[in-house]
Amino acid sequence: MDEATTRLLTWVDAPDVPPRHDEVEDQLLADGWTSCGEGDWARAYRSPTGPIAARISPFDPACVFTVSLYRKGAGNRYLPRLDAHRRLDGGGHLIVMELLDAMPVDEARSWHQRLHDPAAHRVDPDLAAVAALIDDVHRRAETGLPWCGPLDDNPSNVMRGRAGQATFVDLFYVQGLVLYDKALTAPVEVAAVIPADLRRHMFEIPALQREAGPDEVGRMRAAMAAADRD
Ligand SMILES: Nc1ncnc2c1ncn2[C@@H]1O[C@H](COP(=O)(O)OP(=O)(O)O)[C@@H](O)[C@H]1O
Ligand SMILES: [Mg+2]
Repeated sequence: MDEATTRLLTWVDAPDVPPRHDEVEDQLLADGWTSCGEGDWARAYRSPTGPIAARISPFDPACVFTVSLYRKGAGNRYLPRLDAHRRLDGGGHLIVMELLDAMPVDEARSWHQRLHDPAAHRVDPDLAAVAALIDDVHRRAETGLPWCGPLDDNPSNVMRGRAGQATFVDLFYVQGLVLYDKALTAPVEVAAVIPADLRRHMFEIPALQREAGPDEVGRMRAAMAAADRD
């Protein structure tokens, strides 16, 4: 771990209750971390003092499965090094991990294919091992994660590690289109499936901030608030 990460974790762990995702992001920026990526659920920041990234999500029920994969597969060259995981206020998550680079889209697609290619497994035991582990954690996610999607073969989820190797990240996800549609059309179902204190910031994920208008988000918030009152 580098100096900036030590300062970050000391700050995150100091209060009795965990900070909110936006407070962590403010703290990171104030300490010199710089933005290095944004997906649908999370934003990533690069440490000012070492090859380390912080990934912060306001709401990401899949994160615990991702963390479980990185921990079980620690040392496998196709998985990133995980330095720390902290739960944040209301269902947010912070992951501190090795800094990765983007990979060209075609190369990333070919790695997604290779991941489940028996011929590739025969010549590459690490790839076979990571594929088995990914499938195992995914099977658990399919029963434990509400509206769990198939493995996320988005090319941005194969990145390049410091030594140049392909690295699989962020493979498990909640189907956001289903979840956010249900927030409007079946909020009682969402309220029953995800505890309120684990979805306090569900309307603050980057995808909604980018793609949904304030009216639409306002309607979803109102529907969920009414479901929580009943
Ligand atoms: N370890 C990392 N190093 C550098 N950038 C990262 C790292 N992890 C994530 N990112 C960047 O942040 C983006 C979002 O992270 P990701 O874990 O894929 O979350 P999402 O669920 O939002 O897709 C990625 O597409 C990538 O650009
Ligand atoms: Mg992603």
